[in-house]
Amino acid sequence: MEAKTTGRFTGHLGFVLAAAGSAVGLGNLWRFPYLAAKDGGGLFLALYLFLLVTFGFTMLAAELSIGRKTRQSPVKAYATAHSGWGFLGVLTFLVPAIIMTYYPIIGGWILKYMVVYLFGAGQAAAQDSYFSNFIKAPIAPLFFTLVFLGLTSLIVYRGINKGIEKSAKFIMPVLLLVVIGVALYSLGLSYTDDKGITRTGMQGLQVYLIPNFEGLTFSRFLQILLDAMMQLFFSMSIAMGIMITYGSYARGKVNMAHSICHIGLFDTGVSVLAGLMIIPAIFVYEGMEGMASGPGLMFVSLPKVFAAMGSMGVVIALLFFLTATFAALTSSVSILETLTASCMEVFGASRKKVTLVLTAVYVLAASIVCMGYNLFYMDLKLPNGSTARLLDLMDYISTNVLMPLVALLSAVLVGWILKPQWVIDEMQRNGENFRLKRQFSFMIRYICPLIMVLLFLKIAGIV
Ligand code: PHE
Repeated sequence: MEAKTTGRFTGHLGFVLAAAGSAVGLGNLWRFPYLAAKDGGGLFLALYLFLLVTFGFTMLAAELSIGRKTRQSPVKAYATAHSGWGFLGVLTFLVPAIIMTYYPIIGGWILKYMVVYLFGAGQAAAQDSYFSNFIKAPIAPLFFTLVFLGLTSLIVYRGINKGIEKSAKFIMPVLLLVVIGVALYSLGLSYTDDKGITRTGMQGLQVYLIPNFEGLTFSRFLQILLDAMMQLFFSMSIAMGIMITYGSYARGKVNMAHSICHIGLFDTGVSVLAGLMIIPAIFVYEGMEGMASGPGLMFVSLPKVFAAMGSMGVVIALLFFLTATFAALTSSVSILETLTASCMEVFGASRKKVTLVLTAVYVLAASIVCMGYNLFYMDLKLPNGSTARLLDLMDYISTNVLMPLVALLSAVLVGWILKPQWVIDEMQRNGENFRLKRQFSFMIRYICPLIMVLLFLKIAGIV
Protein backbone atom coordinates (compact mmCIF):
# COMPACT_ATOMS: atom_id res chain seq x y z
CA MET A 1 0.00 0.00 0.00
CA GLU A 2 1.21 3.46 -0.84
CA ALA A 3 2.64 5.45 2.05
CA LYS A 4 0.95 8.83 2.19
CA THR A 5 1.88 10.30 5.53
CA THR A 6 5.59 10.88 5.66
CA GLY A 7 6.10 11.99 9.27
CA ARG A 8 6.89 9.34 11.89
CA PHE A 9 7.37 9.20 15.63
CA THR A 10 11.00 8.31 16.31
CA GLY A 11 10.23 5.01 18.04
CA HIS A 12 8.23 3.07 20.59
CA LEU A 13 8.61 5.60 23.41
CA GLY A 14 7.65 8.66 21.40
CA PHE A 15 4.65 6.86 19.94
CA VAL A 16 3.42 5.48 23.25
CA LEU A 17 3.84 8.77 25.11
CA ALA A 18 2.08 10.77 22.40
CA ALA A 19 -0.84 8.34 22.31
CA ALA A 20 -0.95 8.23 26.11
CA GLY A 21 -0.87 12.02 26.04
CA SER A 22 -4.03 11.98 24.01
CA ALA A 23 -5.66 9.36 26.19
CA VAL A 24 -4.77 10.97 29.50
CA GLY A 25 -7.00 13.99 29.80
CA LEU A 26 -9.79 15.51 31.77
CA GLY A 27 -11.66 12.22 31.62
CA ASN A 28 -8.98 10.70 33.85
CA LEU A 29 -8.78 13.59 36.25
CA TRP A 30 -12.36 14.56 36.86
CA ARG A 31 -14.64 11.89 35.48
CA PHE A 32 -12.99 8.67 36.57
CA PRO A 33 -12.70 9.57 40.29
CA TYR A 34 -16.25 10.85 40.37
CA LEU A 35 -17.65 7.72 38.73
CA ALA A 36 -15.66 5.45 41.03
CA ALA A 37 -17.04 7.24 44.10
CA LYS A 38 -20.59 7.14 42.77
CA ASP A 39 -20.54 3.60 41.39
CA GLY A 40 -19.55 1.49 44.35
CA GLY A 41 -15.77 2.02 44.47
CA GLY A 42 -13.95 -1.24 43.81
CA LEU A 43 -16.91 -2.57 41.86
CA PHE A 44 -16.51 0.16 39.27
CA LEU A 45 -12.74 -0.31 39.25
CA ALA A 46 -13.01 -4.05 38.64
CA LEU A 47 -15.52 -3.62 35.83
CA TYR A 48 -13.42 -0.90 34.26
CA LEU A 49 -10.30 -3.06 34.28
CA PHE A 50 -12.20 -5.96 32.78
CA LEU A 51 -13.57 -3.78 29.99
CA LEU A 52 -10.13 -2.29 29.40
CA VAL A 53 -8.44 -5.60 28.65
CA THR A 54 -11.31 -6.81 26.48
CA PHE A 55 -13.16 -4.03 24.75
CA GLY A 56 -10.56 -1.25 25.15
CA PHE A 57 -7.62 -3.17 23.75
CA THR A 58 -9.71 -4.51 20.86
CA MET A 59 -10.83 -1.10 19.68
CA LEU A 60 -7.39 0.38 20.16
CA ALA A 61 -5.79 -2.43 18.15
CA ALA A 62 -8.30 -1.92 15.35
CA GLU A 63 -7.84 1.84 15.11
CA LEU A 64 -4.05 1.91 15.42
CA SER A 65 -3.80 -0.85 12.81
CA ILE A 66 -6.07 0.96 10.38
CA GLY A 67 -3.80 3.98 10.77
CA ARG A 68 -0.51 2.18 10.36
CA LYS A 69 -1.64 -0.09 7.57
CA THR A 70 -3.18 2.63 5.39
CA ARG A 71 -0.72 5.34 6.44
CA GLN A 72 -3.46 7.87 6.07
CA SER A 73 -5.45 10.29 8.13
CA PRO A 74 -8.96 9.23 9.19
CA VAL A 75 -10.74 11.02 6.34
CA LYS A 76 -9.03 8.81 3.78
CA ALA A 77 -8.03 5.77 5.81
CA TYR A 78 -11.44 4.09 5.75
CA ALA A 79 -11.83 4.62 2.00
CA THR A 80 -8.38 3.12 1.45
CA ALA A 81 -9.16 0.16 3.70
CA HIS A 82 -12.35 -0.53 1.78
CA SER A 83 -13.81 1.46 -1.08
CA GLY A 84 -17.37 2.35 -0.24
CA TRP A 85 -16.53 3.10 3.40
CA GLY A 86 -15.27 6.61 2.75
CA PHE A 87 -18.37 8.00 4.46
CA LEU A 88 -17.07 6.63 7.76
CA GLY A 89 -13.95 8.76 7.31
CA VAL A 90 -16.07 11.88 7.00
CA LEU A 91 -18.19 10.87 9.99
CA THR A 92 -15.07 10.22 12.05
CA PHE A 93 -13.61 13.57 11.03
CA LEU A 94 -16.67 15.30 12.47
CA VAL A 95 -15.95 14.04 16.00
CA PRO A 96 -12.68 15.94 16.62
CA ALA A 97 -14.03 18.81 14.48
CA ILE A 98 -16.84 19.29 17.00
CA ILE A 99 -14.80 18.52 20.12
CA MET A 100 -12.31 21.20 19.12
CA THR A 101 -15.02 23.86 19.44
CA TYR A 102 -15.22 23.36 23.20
CA TYR A 103 -12.13 21.54 24.47
CA PRO A 104 -9.98 24.73 24.46
CA ILE A 105 -12.64 26.43 26.60
CA ILE A 106 -12.27 23.86 29.36
CA GLY A 107 -8.50 24.09 28.90
CA GLY A 108 -8.91 27.83 29.42
CA TRP A 109 -10.81 27.32 32.69
CA ILE A 110 -7.94 25.21 33.98
CA LEU A 111 -5.35 27.78 32.94
CA LYS A 112 -7.36 30.43 34.75
CA TYR A 113 -7.33 28.42 37.99
CA MET A 114 -3.61 27.88 37.70
CA VAL A 115 -3.14 31.63 37.42
CA VAL A 116 -5.50 32.19 40.36
CA TYR A 117 -3.38 29.98 42.62
CA LEU A 118 -0.17 31.43 41.24
CA PHE A 119 -1.30 34.87 42.39
CA GLY A 120 -2.49 33.64 45.76
CA ALA A 121 -6.22 34.16 45.18
CA GLY A 122 -7.14 30.62 46.20
CA GLN A 123 -9.48 31.64 49.05
CA ALA A 124 -11.66 33.63 46.64
CA ALA A 125 -11.84 30.62 44.31
CA ALA A 126 -13.31 28.55 47.14
CA GLN A 127 -16.46 30.72 47.21
CA ASP A 128 -19.60 29.05 45.88
CA SER A 129 -20.39 31.34 42.97
CA TYR A 130 -16.79 31.97 41.91
CA PHE A 131 -16.78 29.48 39.07
CA SER A 132 -20.20 30.36 37.64
CA ASN A 133 -19.36 34.07 37.80
CA PHE A 134 -16.10 33.45 36.00
CA ILE A 135 -17.54 31.52 33.06
CA LYS A 136 -20.28 34.13 32.62
CA ALA A 137 -17.81 37.03 32.46
CA PRO A 138 -17.42 38.64 29.03
CA ILE A 139 -13.63 38.75 28.58
CA ALA A 140 -11.71 36.51 30.99
CA PRO A 141 -12.92 33.06 29.82
CA LEU A 142 -12.46 34.12 26.21
CA PHE A 143 -8.94 35.27 26.92
CA PHE A 144 -7.89 32.00 28.59
CA THR A 145 -9.58 29.95 25.85
CA LEU A 146 -7.55 31.73 23.21
CA VAL A 147 -4.31 31.31 25.16
CA PHE A 148 -4.96 27.56 25.48
CA LEU A 149 -5.85 27.31 21.80
CA GLY A 150 -2.68 29.23 20.95
CA LEU A 151 -0.52 26.77 22.91
CA THR A 152 -2.21 23.83 21.19
CA SER A 153 -1.68 25.35 17.75
CA LEU A 154 1.95 26.11 18.47
CA ILE A 155 2.71 22.47 19.27
CA VAL A 156 0.86 21.20 16.19
CA TYR A 157 2.50 23.86 14.04
CA ARG A 158 5.94 22.60 15.07
CA GLY A 159 5.08 19.16 13.74
CA ILE A 160 5.15 15.51 14.73
CA ASN A 161 8.67 15.28 16.16
CA LYS A 162 9.53 18.78 17.32
CA GLY A 163 6.02 19.51 18.55
CA ILE A 164 3.91 16.54 19.56
CA GLU A 165 6.56 13.98 20.44
CA LYS A 166 8.90 16.40 22.17
CA SER A 167 6.17 17.93 24.32
CA ALA A 168 4.75 14.50 25.25
CA LYS A 169 8.19 13.23 26.28
CA PHE A 170 8.51 16.11 28.71
CA ILE A 171 4.91 16.43 29.87
CA MET A 172 3.93 12.81 30.49
CA PRO A 173 6.70 11.84 32.97
CA VAL A 174 6.20 15.10 34.91
CA LEU A 175 2.46 14.49 35.02
CA LEU A 176 2.97 10.98 36.34
CA LEU A 177 5.33 12.14 39.10
CA VAL A 178 3.01 14.91 40.25
CA VAL A 179 0.00 12.62 40.35
CA ILE A 180 1.92 10.06 42.44
CA GLY A 181 3.19 12.77 44.81
CA VAL A 182 -0.21 14.37 45.38
CA ALA A 183 -1.87 10.96 45.80
CA LEU A 184 0.58 10.08 48.60
CA TYR A 185 -0.04 13.42 50.27
CA SER A 186 -3.78 12.94 50.01
CA LEU A 187 -3.66 9.54 51.71
CA GLY A 188 -1.91 11.03 54.74
CA LEU A 189 -4.57 13.70 55.39
CA SER A 190 -6.80 13.85 58.45
CA TYR A 191 -9.34 16.50 59.50
CA THR A 192 -11.83 17.07 62.31
CA ASP A 193 -14.89 19.03 61.20
CA ASP A 194 -17.01 21.40 63.32
CA LYS A 195 -19.22 18.50 64.46
CA GLY A 196 -16.15 16.88 65.96
CA ILE A 197 -16.01 14.06 63.39
CA THR A 198 -12.52 13.08 62.27
CA ARG A 199 -12.03 11.65 58.81
CA THR A 200 -8.74 10.35 57.43
CA GLY A 201 -7.26 9.77 54.00
CA MET A 202 -7.09 6.05 54.68
CA GLN A 203 -10.86 5.96 55.25
CA GLY A 204 -11.21 7.79 51.95
CA LEU A 205 -9.11 5.08 50.37
CA GLN A 206 -11.62 2.49 51.55
CA VAL A 207 -14.48 4.41 49.93
CA TYR A 208 -12.49 4.24 46.72
CA LEU A 209 -11.19 0.69 46.71
CA ILE A 210 -13.60 -1.54 48.60
CA PRO A 211 -16.44 -2.76 46.40
CA ASN A 212 -19.75 -1.56 47.73
CA PHE A 213 -22.56 -4.01 46.96
CA GLU A 214 -25.12 -2.23 49.10
CA GLY A 215 -28.49 -1.97 47.36
CA LEU A 216 -27.09 -3.48 44.20
CA THR A 217 -29.85 -4.44 41.79
CA PHE A 218 -29.53 -5.73 38.25
CA SER A 219 -30.48 -2.38 36.76
CA ARG A 220 -27.96 -0.57 38.92
CA PHE A 221 -25.29 -3.07 37.90
CA LEU A 222 -26.11 -2.36 34.26
CA GLN A 223 -25.86 1.35 34.95
CA ILE A 224 -22.40 0.92 36.48
CA LEU A 225 -21.31 -1.25 33.57
CA LEU A 226 -22.44 1.34 31.06
CA ASP A 227 -20.81 4.17 33.02
CA ALA A 228 -17.56 2.23 32.92
CA MET A 229 -17.93 1.60 29.20
CA MET A 230 -18.62 5.22 28.29
CA GLN A 231 -15.71 6.28 30.44
CA LEU A 232 -13.33 3.80 28.82
CA PHE A 233 -14.39 4.94 25.41
CA PHE A 234 -13.80 8.59 26.06
CA SER A 235 -10.66 8.02 28.07
CA MET A 236 -8.89 5.93 25.44
CA SER A 237 -9.65 8.50 22.71
CA ILE A 238 -11.46 5.79 20.75
CA ALA A 239 -13.72 6.59 17.77
CA MET A 240 -12.36 10.09 17.27
CA GLY A 241 -9.91 9.34 14.48
CA ILE A 242 -7.08 10.23 16.82
CA MET A 243 -5.66 6.73 17.18
CA ILE A 244 -5.84 6.26 13.40
CA THR A 245 -3.78 9.41 12.98
CA TYR A 246 -1.22 8.45 15.61
CA GLY A 247 -1.13 4.88 14.30
CA SER A 248 -0.24 6.26 10.88
CA TYR A 249 2.81 7.94 12.45
CA ALA A 250 4.02 4.73 14.15
CA ARG A 251 7.05 3.10 12.61
CA GLY A 252 6.63 -0.28 10.98
CA LYS A 253 9.07 -1.91 13.37
CA VAL A 254 7.12 -0.91 16.48
CA ASN A 255 5.51 -3.89 18.23
CA MET A 256 1.87 -2.81 18.21
CA ALA A 257 0.59 -5.24 20.85
CA HIS A 258 3.22 -4.03 23.33
CA SER A 259 2.46 -0.40 22.56
CA ILE A 260 -1.23 -0.95 23.15
CA CYS A 261 -0.51 -2.50 26.56
CA HIS A 262 1.68 0.43 27.50
CA ILE A 263 -0.84 3.04 26.36
CA GLY A 264 -3.64 1.31 28.26
CA LEU A 265 -1.48 0.93 31.35
CA PHE A 266 -0.48 4.58 31.34
CA ASP A 267 -4.00 5.83 30.82
CA THR A 268 -5.52 3.58 33.45
CA GLY A 269 -2.64 4.17 35.85
CA VAL A 270 -3.24 7.91 35.75
CA SER A 271 -7.00 7.41 36.24
CA VAL A 272 -6.48 5.18 39.27
CA LEU A 273 -3.93 7.61 40.73
CA ALA A 274 -6.24 10.56 40.07
CA GLY A 275 -8.83 8.75 42.16
CA LEU A 276 -6.22 8.28 44.88
CA MET A 277 -5.45 11.96 44.97
CA ILE A 278 -9.00 13.29 44.74
CA ILE A 279 -11.31 10.90 46.59
CA PRO A 280 -9.46 10.77 49.93
CA ALA A 281 -8.94 14.58 49.89
CA ILE A 282 -12.58 15.34 49.22
CA PHE A 283 -13.73 12.70 51.68
CA VAL A 284 -11.54 14.10 54.43
CA TYR A 285 -12.69 17.70 54.10
CA GLU A 286 -16.21 17.41 52.75
CA GLY A 287 -17.38 13.85 53.24
CA MET A 288 -19.36 12.09 50.53
CA GLU A 289 -21.35 15.27 49.71
CA GLY A 290 -18.29 16.81 48.07
CA MET A 291 -18.13 14.21 45.27
CA ALA A 292 -19.67 16.47 42.63
CA SER A 293 -19.53 15.48 38.98
CA GLY A 294 -17.71 17.08 36.06
CA PRO A 295 -16.74 20.74 36.31
CA GLY A 296 -18.28 20.96 39.79
CA LEU A 297 -15.69 18.55 41.16
CA MET A 298 -12.68 20.30 39.71
CA PHE A 299 -13.73 23.93 39.92
CA VAL A 300 -15.98 24.03 43.00
CA SER A 301 -15.27 21.09 45.35
CA LEU A 302 -11.51 20.94 44.95
CA PRO A 303 -10.88 24.67 45.55
CA LYS A 304 -12.73 24.24 48.86
CA VAL A 305 -10.51 21.31 49.74
CA PHE A 306 -7.38 23.30 48.86
CA ALA A 307 -8.59 26.21 50.99
CA ALA A 308 -9.15 23.89 53.95
CA MET A 309 -5.62 22.51 53.63
CA GLY A 310 -4.12 25.84 54.64
CA SER A 311 -0.80 27.00 53.21
CA MET A 312 0.05 23.56 51.82
CA GLY A 313 -3.19 23.81 49.83
CA VAL A 314 -1.74 26.44 47.53
CA VAL A 315 1.18 24.21 46.58
CA ILE A 316 -1.05 21.20 46.03
CA ALA A 317 -3.52 23.30 44.03
CA LEU A 318 -0.78 24.62 41.80
CA LEU A 319 0.58 21.12 41.19
CA PHE A 320 -2.92 19.84 40.51
CA PHE A 321 -3.86 22.51 37.98
CA LEU A 322 -0.45 22.20 36.34
CA THR A 323 -1.11 18.48 35.85
CA ALA A 324 -4.57 19.22 34.54
CA THR A 325 -3.20 21.81 32.10
CA PHE A 326 -0.66 19.30 30.81
CA ALA A 327 -3.26 16.55 30.51
CA ALA A 328 -5.68 18.78 28.66
CA LEU A 329 -2.99 20.19 26.39
CA THR A 330 -1.69 16.86 25.07
CA SER A 331 -5.31 15.79 24.43
CA SER A 332 -6.14 19.04 22.70
CA VAL A 333 -3.03 18.65 20.56
CA SER A 334 -4.17 15.21 19.45
CA ILE A 335 -7.54 16.59 18.34
CA LEU A 336 -6.05 19.46 16.36
CA GLU A 337 -3.40 17.15 14.89
CA THR A 338 -6.08 14.78 13.62
CA LEU A 339 -7.88 17.65 11.93
CA THR A 340 -4.62 19.02 10.55
CA ALA A 341 -3.51 15.66 9.14
CA SER A 342 -6.88 15.19 7.46
CA CYS A 343 -6.94 18.68 5.94
CA MET A 344 -3.34 18.40 4.75
CA GLU A 345 -4.31 15.27 2.83
CA VAL A 346 -7.59 16.53 1.45
CA PHE A 347 -6.31 19.92 0.34
CA GLY A 348 -2.73 18.89 -0.40
CA ALA A 349 -1.56 21.83 1.70
CA SER A 350 1.41 22.29 4.03
CA ARG A 351 1.20 21.68 7.77
CA LYS A 352 1.94 25.31 8.57
CA LYS A 353 -0.75 26.68 6.31
CA VAL A 354 -3.36 24.18 7.50
CA THR A 355 -2.55 24.81 11.17
CA LEU A 356 -2.93 28.55 10.71
CA VAL A 357 -6.25 28.28 8.88
CA LEU A 358 -7.64 25.78 11.40
CA THR A 359 -6.53 28.01 14.25
CA ALA A 360 -8.39 30.95 12.72
CA VAL A 361 -11.51 28.80 12.27
CA TYR A 362 -11.40 27.63 15.89
CA VAL A 363 -10.69 31.05 17.31
CA LEU A 364 -14.08 31.94 15.88
CA ALA A 365 -15.89 28.69 16.73
CA ALA A 366 -14.55 28.40 20.28
CA SER A 367 -15.34 32.07 20.93
CA ILE A 368 -18.95 31.51 19.95
CA VAL A 369 -19.27 28.42 22.16
CA CYS A 370 -17.54 30.30 24.98
CA MET A 371 -20.16 33.03 24.69
CA GLY A 372 -22.77 30.36 25.26
CA TYR A 373 -22.60 31.43 28.91
CA ASN A 374 -23.46 35.05 28.25
CA LEU A 375 -24.30 36.45 24.81
CA PHE A 376 -25.59 33.19 23.32
CA TYR A 377 -27.02 31.80 26.53
CA MET A 378 -29.64 29.11 26.12
CA ASP A 379 -31.44 26.43 28.09
CA LEU A 380 -31.69 23.52 25.74
CA LYS A 381 -33.31 20.27 26.87
CA LEU A 382 -31.27 17.25 25.81
CA PRO A 383 -32.79 13.80 25.22
CA ASN A 384 -31.07 12.56 28.39
CA GLY A 385 -33.02 15.08 30.43
CA SER A 386 -30.23 17.54 31.24
CA THR A 387 -30.28 21.20 30.30
CA ALA A 388 -27.50 22.26 28.01
CA ARG A 389 -25.56 25.37 27.06
CA LEU A 390 -23.75 25.50 23.72
CA LEU A 391 -20.75 23.67 25.21
CA ASP A 392 -22.86 20.82 26.57
CA LEU A 393 -24.65 20.54 23.26
CA MET A 394 -21.38 20.16 21.33
CA ASP A 395 -20.22 17.62 23.88
CA TYR A 396 -23.46 15.68 23.59
CA ILE A 397 -23.43 15.52 19.80
CA SER A 398 -19.80 14.45 19.60
CA THR A 399 -19.43 12.05 22.51
CA ASN A 400 -22.95 10.69 23.00
CA VAL A 401 -24.17 10.48 19.43
CA LEU A 402 -21.28 10.38 16.97
CA MET A 403 -18.68 8.41 18.92
CA PRO A 404 -20.74 5.29 19.59
CA LEU A 405 -21.93 5.40 15.98
CA VAL A 406 -18.39 5.61 14.62
CA ALA A 407 -17.27 2.81 16.93
CA LEU A 408 -20.17 0.59 15.89
CA LEU A 409 -19.50 1.13 12.20
CA SER A 410 -15.77 0.59 12.50
CA ALA A 411 -16.28 -2.63 14.47
CA VAL A 412 -18.62 -3.85 11.72
CA LEU A 413 -16.12 -2.83 9.05
CA VAL A 414 -13.20 -4.61 10.70
CA GLY A 415 -15.15 -7.60 12.00
CA TRP A 416 -17.33 -8.40 9.02
CA ILE A 417 -16.12 -6.62 5.89
CA LEU A 418 -12.33 -6.48 6.14
CA LYS A 419 -12.33 -9.46 8.52
CA PRO A 420 -10.29 -9.61 11.75
CA GLN A 421 -7.30 -11.16 9.94
CA TRP A 422 -6.74 -7.77 8.29
CA VAL A 423 -5.87 -6.29 11.67
CA ILE A 424 -4.14 -9.42 12.94
CA ASP A 425 -1.75 -9.30 9.96
CA GLU A 426 -0.85 -5.74 10.86
CA MET A 427 -0.33 -6.67 14.50
CA GLN A 428 2.05 -9.43 13.38
CA ARG A 429 3.76 -7.38 10.73
CA ASN A 430 7.27 -7.98 12.13
CA GLY A 431 6.68 -11.64 12.77
CA GLU A 432 5.35 -11.04 16.29
CA ASN A 433 2.93 -13.58 17.63
CA PHE A 434 -0.30 -11.75 18.48
CA ARG A 435 -1.36 -14.12 21.21
CA LEU A 436 -4.82 -12.71 21.68
CA LYS A 437 -5.91 -13.10 18.08
CA ARG A 438 -8.83 -15.39 18.81
CA GLN A 439 -10.17 -13.12 21.53
CA PHE A 440 -9.67 -10.16 19.23
CA SER A 441 -11.75 -11.73 16.45
CA PHE A 442 -14.53 -12.66 18.81
CA MET A 443 -14.61 -9.25 20.47
CA ILE A 444 -14.58 -7.21 17.29
CA ARG A 445 -17.23 -9.31 15.56
CA TYR A 446 -19.71 -9.89 18.35
CA ILE A 447 -19.04 -8.10 21.61
CA CYS A 448 -18.02 -4.64 20.39
CA PRO A 449 -21.06 -4.15 18.16
CA LEU A 450 -23.27 -5.47 20.95
CA ILE A 451 -21.75 -3.06 23.44
CA MET A 452 -22.29 -0.17 21.06
CA VAL A 453 -25.93 -1.04 20.54
CA LEU A 454 -26.35 -1.23 24.32
CA LEU A 455 -24.77 2.17 24.67
CA PHE A 456 -27.19 3.59 22.13
CA LEU A 457 -30.16 2.15 23.94
CA LYS A 458 -28.86 3.64 27.14
CA ILE A 459 -28.25 7.05 25.57
CA ALA A 460 -31.72 7.01 24.06
CA GLY A 461 -33.06 6.23 27.53
CA ILE A 462 -34.43 2.80 26.56
CA VAL A 463 -32.44 0.73 29.10
N1 PHE B 1 -9.07 10.92 26.25
C1 PHE B 1 -9.23 12.20 26.83
C2 PHE B 1 -9.60 12.11 28.29
O1 PHE B 1 -9.58 11.10 28.90
C3 PHE B 1 -10.27 13.01 26.21
C4 PHE B 1 -10.13 13.42 24.85
C5 PHE B 1 -11.24 13.86 24.25
C6 PHE B 1 -8.97 13.37 24.14
C7 PHE B 1 -11.19 14.25 23.00
C8 PHE B 1 -8.92 13.76 22.90
C9 PHE B 1 -10.04 14.18 22.33
O2 PHE B 1 -9.95 13.11 28.88
